[in-house]
Amino acid sequence: MPTPAQLRKLEAAARAAAGRAYAPYSRFAVGAAVLTTAGKVHTGCNVENASYGLTNCAERTAVFSAVAAGGARTRLRCVVVYTPTRTATAPCGACRQVIHEFGPSSRIVSICDGPARVDSPIDALLPGAFGPADLA
Ligand code: THU
Repeated sequence: MPTPAQLRKLEAAARAAAGRAYAPYSRFAVGAAVLTTAGKVHTGCNVENASYGLTNCAERTAVFSAVAAGGARTRLRCVVVYTPTRTATAPCGACRQVIHEFGPSSRIVSICDGPARVDSPIDALLPGAFGPADLA
């Protein structure tokens, strides 16, 4: 679990990351920040493409950035996602699966432009997940 100070830092980082989104098609700028078990913070934004299906969500950008910086043993403690909405939204299914790979015990916090927030463990968002152990 992140400390309250770590959570505030993650929230600020996720909001700032949305400012770097490449979202010319949806005009929906999303930011994410992850806290690793090593105590590092990594951020991501959504990166769209003229071939729409190639879009990468903010959450996956942040997770891949954390792994690229920290290596294959990277584990996630918490993921904060900011969407430019009045209500908090949870990560899409693809992002839930990728978050689960590196943070099966992680906590997902969704924040937005309103006071609403959603805070839940990844296993509540992706019950019965397929994971690395299933390949053993
Ligand atoms: N998006 C994210 O980056 N994260 C989410 O949790 C929801 C959706 C992006 C994908 C696309 O660039 C835009 O938001 C609209 O779906």
